[in-house]
Amino acid sequence: MNPTPAQGAEGTHVVILGIGYVGCVTAACLAHIGHRVTCVDCDEHKVQSVLRGAAPFYEPGLEEIIRETVAAGRLSATTDIASVLPDADVAMVCVGTPSEKNGNLGLDQLRRVVGDIAAQDIRRKPLVIAIRSTVFPGTCEEVVARRFAPGADVSVVANPEFLREGTAVRDFMEPALVVVGGSDPAAVGKVAGLYAPLGIAPCLVSLRTAEMIKYACNASHAVKISFANEIGTIAANLGIDGTEVMDTFCRDESLNISRAYLRPGFAFGGSCLPKDLRALNYRAARLDLKLPLLESVIPSNERHLARALQAVMDLPAERIGVFGLAFKESTDDLRESPVVTLLEQLIGKGRNVRVFDPQILPDRIYGSNQRYLLAAIPHIGKLFEPQLEALLEWAGYLVVAQKPAPPFAEAIRASGVAVLDLVNAIPDLRVAHRV
Ligand SMILES: NC(=O)c1ccc[n+]([C@@H]2O[C@H](COP(=O)([O-])OP(=O)(O)OC[C@H]3O[C@@H](n4cnc5c(N)ncnc54)[C@H](O)[C@@H]3O)[C@@H](O)[C@H]2O)c1
Repeated sequence: MNPTPAQGAEGTHVVILGIGYVGCVTAACLAHIGHRVTCVDCDEHKVQSVLRGAAPFYEPGLEEIIRETVAAGRLSATTDIASVLPDADVAMVCVGTPSEKNGNLGLDQLRRVVGDIAAQDIRRKPLVIAIRSTVFPGTCEEVVARRFAPGADVSVVANPEFLREGTAVRDFMEPALVVVGGSDPAAVGKVAGLYAPLGIAPCLVSLRTAEMIKYACNASHAVKISFANEIGTIAANLGIDGTEVMDTFCRDESLNISRAYLRPGFAFGGSCLPKDLRALNYRAARLDLKLPLLESVIPSNERHLARALQAVMDLPAERIGVFGLAFKESTDDLRESPVVTLLEQLIGKGRNVRVFDPQILPDRIYGSNQRYLLAAIPHIGKLFEPQLEALLEWAGYLVVAQKPAPPFAEAIRASGVAVLDLVNAIPDLRVAHRV
């Protein structure tokens, strides 16, 4: 492919440390959009390759932009960090972070390169260290920033890379996501500014969020692939075209391919999700299929509910109010509501609990709803509080188990009651109490 040249901000000197797949593509592309870039690598062969205007490995479109930017004098390379770091504005660390035998992330290359930077104490200007390698949350603070004495003119930001080998140049030039994390606004701004010619607004987040987002992305990609493979497998075993199933699945951009269901919150429940997962897993077992991802979903949900129960048990309050009984807002369907299970267990453990749900009046529920509730909590009628205000007055702690409509959220906030927000629905209270 032929990336479109763009004009970038002049004057920022970026030193790229480690020119493997990520570092070399980053270096060439940053030079291509107008920055002055120097590559540093301990591998003489890679350095010589860049200096010759050639890509040290195959990546579509890379060789052309290396040739063009080396010829234009914006891209250079060396094995000698000491010769270029004093003049650097940004040092981008792109060294490898391979797996150790136990699965832990190997930080030997990172430690060595950070040590190399720390050893260069004759700098002419402030330095921003941008960690582009994939590192576990906390690494930037604990492994990188700690190597520098307080007062050293050094700031650390996290700037993870999302490129895919094979389309890396296009992924850089047309990014879906640019993330810069840090607590020093000037340093974050300097690194975010490098991407200005690409016309994308970088997401500016905390240091640890920037580190974590890379894991969230890769975990979700792996889960999506395994999900499609497991659906394809069960479909094939039922004589169904799995590709047609998943192509049709992807037509729903409201619930399936969207932001829906992608916020951390409470366990799922209701009359469909648990039932249908059980049926799918039962049928897979009858077909002698092992589908570990789909089999793990209900256990994962039960674990999440167990964490919520523990969090409620740990609350320092005698009287616990619960907002919401149905499995979600705007319904009175109680079948397989995780809140019913939560209440059942709290009562079993002797806690003093009362509940309010805007859609549920105990003397109005009937049929399967009533049977389900009475089987779980026979004396539920006595636990109901028909007025939220009365519940807020009574409770020492309020457990929010369902998204409250704005007037209810406002009443909860205004009451000043201590809240455990299981559904992550009341922004002002979110940070203090998470499960
Ligand atoms: N490859 C990908 O598709 C990809 C995509 C996104 C993120 N990442 C992450 O980016 C990081 C780099 O991945 P990669 O595939 O480019 O690794 P890589 O192994 O291809 O390249 C690492 C480079 O760092 C150099 N190096 C190591 N120690 C050095 C030192 N002290 N000084 C100078 N150079 C040094 C090595 O010689 C090598 O050229 C990893 O954390 C990886 O998880 C990779």
